[in-house]
Amino acid sequence: MIPSPLPGQPQLHYRDHSLYLEGCRLSDLAREHATPLYVYSRAAMLEALAAYQRGFAGRQVQICYAMKANSSLAVLELFASQGCGFDIVSGGELERVLAAGGDPARVIFSGVGKTRAEMRQALHAGIQCFNVESEAELQVLHEVASGMGVRAPVSIRVNPDVDARTHPYISTGLKGNKFGVAHDRTLAIYQHAASLSGLRVVGIDCHIGSQITQEAPYLDAMDRMLDLVEAIEAAGIPIGHLDFGGGLGIDYNGDTPPAADALWAKLLARLDERGHGERALMIEPGRSLVGNAGVCLTEVLYLKPGEHKNFCIVDAAMNDLPRPAMYQAWHAIVPLEQASTGPERQASVYDVVGPICESGDWLGRDRALAVAPGEHLAVLSAGAYCASMGSTYNSRPRPAEVLVDGDQAHLVRARESVGDLFRHERLLGAGR
Ligand code: LLP
Repeated sequence: MIPSPLPGQPQLHYRDHSLYLEGCRLSDLAREHATPLYVYSRAAMLEALAAYQRGFAGRQVQICYAMKANSSLAVLELFASQGCGFDIVSGGELERVLAAGGDPARVIFSGVGKTRAEMRQALHAGIQCFNVESEAELQVLHEVASGMGVRAPVSIRVNPDVDARTHPYISTGLKGNKFGVAHDRTLAIYQHAASLSGLRVVGIDCHIGSQITQEAPYLDAMDRMLDLVEAIEAAGIPIGHLDFGGGLGIDYNGDTPPAADALWAKLLARLDERGHGERALMIEPGRSLVGNAGVCLTEVLYLKPGEHKNFCIVDAAMNDLPRPAMYQAWHAIVPLEQASTGPERQASVYDVVGPICESGDWLGRDRALAVAPGEHLAVLSAGAYCASMGSTYNSRPRPAEVLVDGDQAHLVRARESVGDLFRHERLLGAGR
């Protein structure tokens, strides 16, 4: 029997042996919309946001949701309705924000490889700030903005060189990473930026990694950033805001990250101690706002016992949910129905794998499950970096997405069709 409520998943619980997200029975949704299916809880997202808002009560802080975590329009619409801004990394993400009714004046544009076209698009839209990641980018942004007769608002992303102690692929604040400018070059770069007529310095930013579960790296980064702010302002360049990035982890498998409000109580105390209590702040959380608000439902297709391994073959795969294949990430996998009646289940330890022709196509390894073909499973903590990182490999259309609100379930993304996948392709004609 699985504990209820499930770890890290505030709106997920078993009721009468059936798994519910808020007031919606997930097996009903799986039957109605078919699988694989993403289901998100509106209340869980709002609760996650509220933890930050509690931490910031009485302070001037702008929360810019890092939409790469989950860029579905309905999710963006929800955060926009709560006054959030957005952290974007492409012109495509900017278009999504606008389509969802987000305010471009609360958009910050991160990323190491912005194109000139994306810079022009963002300047036209009137975004709040470009988080510039290199001296070369600074120069190009100056040229693009000057050509348009405007001044681009800039913040420079600093690599504070602290170890976020997370997976190497998602650690971004160390010297060896491609992100940001070196700490010891920052002052000189600000002086150069302040001299360029196409730019307007508005802030400074950092982002040290993702799935961070400790406070210490954040406190170290805060100190390193404040040292810089003081040096830059002493050189006569005012720093409007300090953007501290995202990165706070979630509970996937007994992980114990600090709560957002507890973490920020410590960080704000540090700011106060150092005399920066009045400074405008921004943050860019992604995973911690949506990760534990979503599940991916999948149907068991076949059980395949083997000499070394037993496989539970399901209809979701690495294209739908790439984190296990990419990062050996652990996601809890639980049955939607626990009642002892129903099909004859086979209890065993399984590797839960998808239909894709790759050995890396697995969702969970060595999982104790009692399952039968035709039954459904839920992959948990699937609200962040799952649907948004999905692909259509093996010509598998992307899943549908449902947002639940109490006992109401809203289809917010229809399942893609195979026709959608090759709509833009052209045949050359027979005989060629
Ligand atoms: N700001 C910047 C500049 C970022 O690069 C990121 C994430 C965030 C904010 C949001 O970080 P979060 O609060 O979500 O940790 N695909 C990986 C995670 C990649 C994170 C990339 N950057 C995963 O599935 O674990």
